[in-house]
Amino acid sequence: MTRALKLAEVERIPILGTESIVCGFHLVDYIWTDIFSNLPAASTYVLITDTNLAKLYLSKYEESFQVAWAHHSQASAAVAAAPRLLTHVLPPGELSKSRATKSAIEDWMFSEKCTRDTMVLALGGGVIGDLVGYVAATFMRGVGFIQIPTSLLAMVDSSIGGKTAVDTPAGKNLVGSFWQPKRIYMDMAVLSTLPPREFSNGMAEVVKTAAIWDAAEFDVLEASSVEVRRAVLSSTQDADAGLTLATRSEEQKLLQRVIAASARVKAYVVTHDERESGMRGLLNFGHTIGHAIEAILSPQVLHGECVAVGCVLEAEVARRMGHLSEVGVARLVRCLRAYGLPTTMDDPLLRGLASSEQLAGVRPQRLMDIMGVDKKTVGTQKRLVVLKQLGATLELKPTNVSDALILEVLSAGVLVKPVNDDSAAATETVVVPPGSKSISNRALQLAALGKGVCRLRNLLHSDDTQVMMAALQAMGGCEFAWEDGGDTLVVTGGGGALHAPTAEVYLGNAGTAARFLTTTVNLISSGGDSTVLTGNARMKLRPCGPLVDALRANGCGIDYCEKEGSLPLRVSHSGGRGFPGGRIQLAASVSSQYVSSILLCAPYAQEPVRLELVGGKVISQPYIDMTLAMMAQFGCQVQRISETEYLIPLGAYTNPAEYVVESDASSATYPLAFAAITGRQCTVPNIGSASLQGDARFAVDVLRPMGCTVEQTATSTTVRGPPRGQLLALGDIDMEPMTDAFLTASVLAAVAPGNGGVTRIRGIANQHVKECDRIQAMCTELARFGVTATNHADGIDVHARPFNELASATPSVHCYDDHRVAMSFSVLACLAPGGAELRERRCVGKTWPQWWDVLARDLGAPIAGAEPQEEEHVEAEASGVASPSVVVVGMRGAGKSTLSKAAASALGLAFVDMDEYLEQQVGQTIPEIIASEGGWAAFRAHESRLLAQALTKDFATGAIIACGGGVVEAPENRALLQRHMAGSGAVICLTPNMDQVADFLSQDKTRPAYAAGDARDVYERRKPLYSEASNYEILVDKSLPGAWPRIEQEFVRLAAFALGRDCNRVDLAHPSYFVSLTAKDVGEYLANDRLAAVTAGAHAVELRADLLAAIDEDDSLARVHWQFALLRHATPLPVVFTVRTVAQGGAFRGTDAQRMALLHAALRWGAEYVDVEVDAHAAALYAARRNTLVIASHHDPTGRQLRWAQCEFATEILQRARACGDIVKLISFANQWSDNIDCLEFVKRHHSPATPLIALNMGYAGQMSRVLCPVLTPVTHPLLAARAAPGQISVQQINVARATAGLLPARKMALCGTPVQQSPGPAMHNAAFSALGLPHVYGLCETAEASGLAELFADPEFGGASITIPLKQSVIPLLAHLTPAARRIGAVNTVIPTVVGGKSVLVGDNTDYLGMVGCLRRAQVAAFPKASALVVGAGGTSRAALYALYTLGVGSVTIYNRTAQRAEELVAEFSELFVSLVSVSDLAAVGSPDYVVGTIPACELVYPDSLFVKGGVALDMAYKPRWTPLLEAAKRHGWSVVSGIDVLIEQGIHQMEKWTHLTAPTKIMAEAAYAKYNANN
Ligand SMILES: NC(=O)c1ccc[n+]([C@@H]2O[C@H](COP(=O)([O-])OP(=O)(O)OC[C@H]3O[C@@H](n4cnc5c(N)ncnc54)[C@H](O)[C@@H]3O)[C@@H](O)[C@H]2O)c1
Repeated sequence: MTRALKLAEVERIPILGTESIVCGFHLVDYIWTDIFSNLPAASTYVLITDTNLAKLYLSKYEESFQVAWAHHSQASAAVAAAPRLLTHVLPPGELSKSRATKSAIEDWMFSEKCTRDTMVLALGGGVIGDLVGYVAATFMRGVGFIQIPTSLLAMVDSSIGGKTAVDTPAGKNLVGSFWQPKRIYMDMAVLSTLPPREFSNGMAEVVKTAAIWDAAEFDVLEASSVEVRRAVLSSTQDADAGLTLATRSEEQKLLQRVIAASARVKAYVVTHDERESGMRGLLNFGHTIGHAIEAILSPQVLHGECVAVGCVLEAEVARRMGHLSEVGVARLVRCLRAYGLPTTMDDPLLRGLASSEQLAGVRPQRLMDIMGVDKKTVGTQKRLVVLKQLGATLELKPTNVSDALILEVLSAGVLVKPVNDDSAAATETVVVPPGSKSISNRALQLAALGKGVCRLRNLLHSDDTQVMMAALQAMGGCEFAWEDGGDTLVVTGGGGALHAPTAEVYLGNAGTAARFLTTTVNLISSGGDSTVLTGNARMKLRPCGPLVDALRANGCGIDYCEKEGSLPLRVSHSGGRGFPGGRIQLAASVSSQYVSSILLCAPYAQEPVRLELVGGKVISQPYIDMTLAMMAQFGCQVQRISETEYLIPLGAYTNPAEYVVESDASSATYPLAFAAITGRQCTVPNIGSASLQGDARFAVDVLRPMGCTVEQTATSTTVRGPPRGQLLALGDIDMEPMTDAFLTASVLAAVAPGNGGVTRIRGIANQHVKECDRIQAMCTELARFGVTATNHADGIDVHARPFNELASATPSVHCYDDHRVAMSFSVLACLAPGGAELRERRCVGKTWPQWWDVLARDLGAPIAGAEPQEEEHVEAEASGVASPSVVVVGMRGAGKSTLSKAAASALGLAFVDMDEYLEQQVGQTIPEIIASEGGWAAFRAHESRLLAQALTKDFATGAIIACGGGVVEAPENRALLQRHMAGSGAVICLTPNMDQVADFLSQDKTRPAYAAGDARDVYERRKPLYSEASNYEILVDKSLPGAWPRIEQEFVRLAAFALGRDCNRVDLAHPSYFVSLTAKDVGEYLANDRLAAVTAGAHAVELRADLLAAIDEDDSLARVHWQFALLRHATPLPVVFTVRTVAQGGAFRGTDAQRMALLHAALRWGAEYVDVEVDAHAAALYAARRNTLVIASHHDPTGRQLRWAQCEFATEILQRARACGDIVKLISFANQWSDNIDCLEFVKRHHSPATPLIALNMGYAGQMSRVLCPVLTPVTHPLLAARAAPGQISVQQINVARATAGLLPARKMALCGTPVQQSPGPAMHNAAFSALGLPHVYGLCETAEASGLAELFADPEFGGASITIPLKQSVIPLLAHLTPAARRIGAVNTVIPTVVGGKSVLVGDNTDYLGMVGCLRRAQVAAFPKASALVVGAGGTSRAALYALYTLGVGSVTIYNRTAQRAEELVAEFSELFVSLVSVSDLAAVGSPDYVVGTIPACELVYPDSLFVKGGVALDMAYKPRWTPLLEAAKRHGWSVVSGIDVLIEQGIHQMEKWTHLTAPTKIMAEAAYAKYNANN
C-alpha cells in the first residue's frame, strides 16, 4: 500500500503576478503533488542535480515521485499515462556551468527522446539553477522549468528572476537568457546540510538586500545572527519538525522570516523591472566592486565573500559622497562579520583563502579596469548603488559615481595635496569628531540604569560600546532603538531592575565594559541563580582582582571560574546579598575604572555607599572626575568627603531627554591643527573648557602659545591660525596631561619657525610603546620633509623649517598602521608644497574612519587615492633582509659553519655561529662554561636563552644561524625551532656520513668531548630530534660526485630555495619538458656525462622513486635520499619527485603511509616539484609544500573513465586537482587518434594561468597529445633503457613533429664578424639543432661593418646571432635592449630576438663571460673571495674577463697590457667591482695570482716563473694553437689549464639555450666543435 503523503504547510510569495515562490520545510511530497495537480502535465520530468545533493536527496525525490503519482492518479480518473522521471547528476562547482556541459545534457535528453512537453527541474545551488535554466530555455525552443534551490544563495538570489546562463572563457555568465521558472520551491530543511561557508556565502546576499531595502529587516539580521546561524545549521532534516506550523520551532520561524523577506524583495524588484532597466540594478549593491574582486580571487574566494567586501567598499563610497553616515558603515561591517564574512581585503579569512599572487593582483587600478567592462557599466561611466542609510538608497536605481572617488576608496594609500591659500580667509568650518569612548561607555551605563527615555547622540560606534550594549540588553535592564539612521540611540532605562541573562555574558576584549559590568551584575534581582561574565583569551589575562576583592569584602557573591584575579567570574544572585553597599574600601592605584565601576552602581546598593580609596596614589583622577560629573548630569550628586572618600546617596538616575556625547578630544586636535597650519578657522562645537578630557587643553595650552587665536567656552572651542608660516615654536613644553596629542603638536612644530624654531616636548615617554614607537616614527617621517627631529627617552625635539622649504615627501609617508601618525601627517601634507602620499589610509579606522571624508569635504583638502610605490616593494624583497633567518642544525663536525658561511656570503646574509655568539654574550668560552660549577646544564641553559634571543630579536631575519650540535636535545629549543618554522622560517638539518664525521672529530682536539657515548650513538639518539626540529634536510657526504664543492653549491641552492629567493622553477612561457628517469639506480647515469646527454632538451628531470631498486629496502627513506642527492650532484635542473603505485601505472607496492612519507621527505630535501595522485592524502602534502610546487595528477591507464569530451568526470577531477595542486596533470589513454584533439580542446577550455594544466593521452595513438601538450610534457630519451609510460617520446621527436605540423617555425642563426670561415660555431650549433630535432640553421655572415648585419636582422626568420670581432661594440646601436651584463661589460657577443609587448625586438647579451665563469668554476682551486687574478690584455674580451672574475667573487685583479694607457682606462672603468684593481707594465711585478686569464691572440709573450709559484688556473681565450704559450707555461708549473676552445663551447651552449629555450645537448656540441677544430688545425 502506498504511504500517506506528508504535505507541508507553506508560505507563498508573488512574483510577476503569480504566487509561484513556495517556502516551507520538508517539501518533497508537496512539490510533486503541486506539480501533478496544478501545472500543465508533462510526459517526462527531467531532474538535474549535482553529486553532493544526489547523495543526500535524490532517492527521496525518486520515491516521492512514485508515491505522489499514485495518489494523484487515484484521485482523478482522467489522468493520462504515468510520466517518466529521468535524473542526471553533474559534478558540483562552477566548472560545470559550461557550454560543454549544456550540450552534453541536451545530447543526453535527445538520446532519452525527451519531447516538447518535458518539464526540467533544477535541484541544487546557483550553478545547477543557472545551467539547467538555460538548458530549459533553449531545448526545443524552450520547455517548462522548475527551480528547487538548495543553497541559501540560490534561495534568496539566483533562483528568483529568471536569469539563466553559462560561463565562457571570456567571463562568467556571458551567454544565457531570461527564462522564468514555473515554480520556485524553497525547502529550508535542506539548509541543514549546507557547508557553513556556503551559508555565509548566501548571507552576503541577505544582508545586502536588507541594506538597500528594509531597515527593520536589517535590525532583525543585526540582532539575531546567532539564532539565524543556529537555525540554518541545526539538523532538522531527519525529523518532520517544521512540516506544519504547529511543529515549527521559533528558530525555524525566524529562518523562514529572514529568507522569505529577502526573497520577497527580490521578487518585488523583478516584478517591477524584469529586464533590469533601473530598479533591478539596486540588487547590484556591493556587486560592482565585489565582482571585480571576484574576477581576481575566484574560485578560491566565493562570490558572497567578495560581495561582502564590495558592500563595505561601496558603502564607504556613499559615506565619502556625504550620503551615508559612519554609523551606517560600521553597522554594515559588524552585521556582515557576524555572519562569518570578510569585510576588508586585509581580512584574515581572505588572506587564508587566496594565494599571495592573487592578493597582489587586487590593485585599485586593476579593479577599476575590470569594472570598466562590467555588463552594468554604461559607456565609460561607472554606476554604483549609493546607500542613503541602512534600508534605503539614494535613488531607485544605481547612481553615476566618478572614477576618482571610487579609486580613492579602493586605494591603500592617500595623496593629500596642498590646500590652496586664496580662499583661506573665508573658510570657517565646524567639525564634530566622533564621540569619546570613555564618555560613551559611561553614558550607556547611566542611561540604562536611569529612569525614562534618553536620546544619546554622537555615541562612539566601536567594539567596546557594542559589547556594553549587548550585555546591558541581555540583563534586560533597558531597551535600545536607533533613530536617524543610527545616529541617535534611544535608551529606555529600566530604573535599575535587572534580571539574570539566559547565557554567559561575553565581553570580548572590551576592558571598560568588563570593569563597569563587574559591579553592575551584582544588581540583578530576578531570573537565574548566577551570571557568568567572560571574555576572550586576552581579556582573561587582564586584572580585575582589586575590584572583586572590594566587592567580596562588601558581601557580594563573586567567584573566579578560572584564574584567580581575572575573568571569567561567576556572580551569585542567591548565595550573596546582591550589592549590600555601606562602607567599601578599594585599592585604586591600578585602575580608575574600578572606582568608576562602584561609583556608577552605588546609588542602587542596599545602603548608601561610602567609598574609601586605599593603597597609595589614586591613578587617573581625571577619569574619576569624569564619572562624578556625568553622574551629576544624570541627577546623582556624589559628596566628596575627603581627598580619597566619597559618599553616594541612594536613588535611581533620572535620564535627561537628550545627552550629547562629547567628541573625543584627541581626535579634535587634527581639525584644530588644520586651522592652525593653514591660517583658517575651525570650531569643534562640543569640547570646551568644561571638558573632562585631558586633550581638551590642546587648544589653550599648545595652539594659543603657537600664535593661534583660541576662543573657548565651557562647551566649544574655536581656533584660527595665524597667516601661513607664522606659527611660533613652543620652546619647552610638558605634554604629560595630553600625551596622545604630541604627534599633532610635532607636525605643527615642524613648520613653526618663529620664537627660535625649536620645540622640545617632554613627559611623553609612554609614546615609545604605543601602536608603534611613535617618537621614533615622528623623527623618521619628519625627516622625509627635510625636518630634523631628535628622539629622547621622554620626548622629542623638533627643529622647524619654513613651510615653503619642506621637501616633497619621497616617496611617501609610512604610517606604521597607527591612526595618530596618519592623521598628524595628513595635516602637515596640507601645507607641504608637494603635498604628501600617506600609506595605509585605512589605519584611521581605529578612531575616526571618516577622517579622510572630513578632510576632503569639510576642510577642503584636495585628496586622491594613491598606491605605495612599486620600487619600494622590489627593493624590500631584493634585500632579503625581511625574510626569517635560516637555521642550520646537525652533528658537530658535519660542516654547519663552513656551509652556513658559504651560503651567507653567496646570499648576502649575516653569518651567525651560535657557539661564538654564546661565548660573546656569556663572556666565557664554552670549555670554561662546561668546566665551571654549572657544567653542561649551565651551558644548555645559556644555549636556550640565547637561541630564543637570536631567533626572536637579534637575528630574527636576514641571517644564517649555525647552531651547536646538541641544540635539539632540549625540548624548549625544539619548541623554539618549531615556532620559527611555523612563522615560515627554515631550519636545515645536515644529515652526515657518520664515518666521515667520526674521522674528522678524532682529529679535532679543540672542542670538549661528548658527555656520553661515542658520536655514533649520540647521532642515533638525536636523529628523530633533528628531524622533528627541522623542515629541510641535506645529505653531507663527501663521497657524492663533485665532493665538497658540489655539497657547498647544493647547500647554497637549498638555502636560496628555502628562503624563496631562487626556487629554480621552469619557465612555462615556452614549451617545456621533463625527462623521466627509469633506471633502478641513478648511479647508472653518472659515468660519461650520460645524465647531461639524457637531459638535453629537457627543463627538469623526474626521479621516479617507485622505479628505484632501493624502494623495497627497509631503510628506503635513507636510500632514496641518497639517490636524490646523487641526482642533485649531477644536474642543476629542477627535480620532479614522483612515487607512483601499481594502480597508477607505476611500481610502488608499499602502503599509502610509506608513499606519503617519501613525498613529504622530498619536500624536506627541497625538491622543486613533487607529483602526487589526487586522493585523500594529497591535500596534506599541498598544505605542507612551502616553496615546492605540487603537481596534482590523475592517471587513467584505461582511458575509459577520464574522457576529454564528456566532461563530467574530467571536470570533477580537474576541480579536485586544482584544490590540491599548483599544477594539474591529467593523463588518460588514447583509444583512437581523435582523443588527442579532444584532449587539446579540453586544455583550451580549462586554461588557467594560475594552475597550469598538463593533459595528455598514453599509448601509441596518444603520441600526438604529447606533441600538443603546452607545458611540462614528460619525455623519454633514446639513451634510456625503458620509457616511463607507453607512448612516451623524446624532445627530438616532439620537435620534429611540431616543425612538421607548423607549430615550430624554422629560424636562421648566424655567426657575424670577420674572419669567421674557420669557426667551429656552425658545426656546433647545427649539431645541437639536429640532436633536438629543431628545424633551424646556423650559418655565417662575414662582415667587418655593423651595417652589414641589417639585412640579417631584418629577416622575418632571423633567430639569433653570435657576434665576434670586430663587431662586439659596434653592433650595440642596432639593438633595442642590452642585458645588464652586456651593458656593464660594454660589449655584445649574442643577439636574441625577443617578444616584448607583442613585438619582436633585438636584445644584446654577453655569454663570453658566462663561458669563462663556467670553465673557471669547474677548474676552481681557491676560495674565490680571497683569490687574486691577472688579466693579460685590455681589449673587448678583457672586459668580459673582468666581469667574469667579478661574478666569481675574485677580490683583487691586476691588468697587464702592452699599451699601459688602455689598461689604465679599464682600471678606471671597472675598479668599483673589486677590492683592488691595478695595472702593471711588467709581468714580473705581478707576484703570484690564483688565476691568469689571457685575452690577446697567442704570441711570444714571456710569462715569468714567478707567476706560477703556488697552484692556480690559467685560461686563454686564444685557441690557436690549442696550447698557447700561456697555457704551456702554466702546464709546466702543474697548473690547471682551460683552453679557449672550451670557453668557446661553453659560451655557445649558453647562446643556444637563450635562442631555443631548451637545455643544450652539451656533449654533442662539444664533440662537433672539437671535430671541426681538429680538422682545421
Ligand atoms: N541567476 C542569477 O540571478 C544568479 C544570481 C547570483 C548567483 N548566480 C550564480 O549562482 C552560482 C553560485 O551559486 P551557489 O553559491 O549556490 O553555488 P553552487 O551551486 O556551486 O553550490 C555551492 C556548493 O554547495 C553545495 N550545496 C548546495 N546546496 C546544498 C545543500 N543543501 N546541502 C549540501 N550541499 C549543498 C553544492 O553542491 C556546491 O558544492 C554562480 O554560478 C553564480 O553566477 C546566479
